[in-house]
Amino acid sequence: EFDAERVTTTIRQNKHLEGALLPILHALQAEFGWIDDTTIRAVALELNLSRAEVHGVISFYHDFRTRPEARPVIKLCRAEACQARGSEPLANWAAAKAANRIAIEPVYCLGLCSVGPNAMIGHDVYARLDEASLGALIEAL
Ligand code: FES
Repeated sequence: EFDAERVTTTIRQNKHLEGALLPILHALQAEFGWIDDTTIRAVALELNLSRAEVHGVISFYHDFRTRPEARPVIKLCRAEACQARGSEPLANWAAAKAANRIAIEPVYCLGLCSVGPNAMIGHDVYARLDEASLGALIEAL
């Protein structure tokens, strides 16, 4: 659920970054799963942009969604430690296996770096994933 306070906090945490719009949108998408109209308005206001400009960037990048994902979502960690343990080929493999039935989305560090590759489904975290264990999760969804 969108919550004005969390939206503002997320925007302000990334506002100092260079080219702040993209990192802000990524952070919002990661936090809420999609970006609604009120949030777009808040981003535009904070960055002194028009809503059309923010909309333009959102529709240019396929990563961003302006409505909630209807499919089940597996968030696979793509941050450094999980990358080093093969999360990238695993994500490609999972996307092929899930076809269009399940969304495989990136997430950046779940705080379990020593036991990666890790993933999150809803509020549950799964560690030490490989094709067998991740495949079983995909089939169970
Ligand atoms: Fe994946 Fe930290 S890098 S959990």
